[in-house]
Amino acid sequence: MEKINIAVDGFSSCGKSTIAKGLAKKLGYTYIDSGAMYRAVALFAYRNGWITDTDINETELQKHISDIEISFKTNSEGQQETYLNGENVEKEIRSLEIGNGASRVSTLGFVRKELVRQQQAIGEKKGVVMDGRDIGTVVFPDAELKIFLTASPEVRAQRRFNELQAKGIPVSFEDTLANVRERDERDTTRMESPLRKADDAIELDNSHITIDEQLQWALDLMHNA
Ligand code: DC
Repeated sequence: MEKINIAVDGFSSCGKSTIAKGLAKKLGYTYIDSGAMYRAVALFAYRNGWITDTDINETELQKHISDIEISFKTNSEGQQETYLNGENVEKEIRSLEIGNGASRVSTLGFVRKELVRQQQAIGEKKGVVMDGRDIGTVVFPDAELKIFLTASPEVRAQRRFNELQAKGIPVSFEDTLANVRERDERDTTRMESPLRKADDAIELDNSHITIDEQLQWALDLMHNA
């Protein structure tokens, strides 16, 4: 079967990476976490002091946006890790603070333009499963299979909370839920490429199904794509 590109979009913490990684593994495709790319830009901005609790120095960030080179490598346990200009930043980019910063820098047109350019280049050869917010609408509008995942904010906050706890990142459930709601609001209402389901995407609410059931659902779709 010829290789295709698969777009997986949806709200934060609704299991996009789980289904996307599962599909990539089963199909021998490349998995790309586009959110990690926005997180890497946020980390770059924090480190340079261009983002504070209230402001983003857009002029400086824009001036240096093409200095940011993001890549992915698979570690010895088979997990994909994110590199910022050659440095492994996988752990650092997963904090709530960087997640929030990513949501903020992702509202900037010049940031989106640069990352979409890098993402489209990755997809040129096909055989890519990419998850994010605008993959089916902007990055791969011609993707042969588009999946849009949803789950309730409480279910998503619980998943994110468990994930952060497992990684030893201290946080309360209340803060995690507030963070999920805040990001939903920003992701869906921003001017630039707001999160929305592509007309030809197939939607799945995975609040009450298992990871295996969700992967099987996607594989069945794949065989009909
Ligand atoms: O999926 P994530 O939580 O790692 O994404 C971090 C932020 O990046 C999220 O708040 C929205 C933004 N994002 C985006 O705007 N477009 C994408 N394709 C992926 C992520």
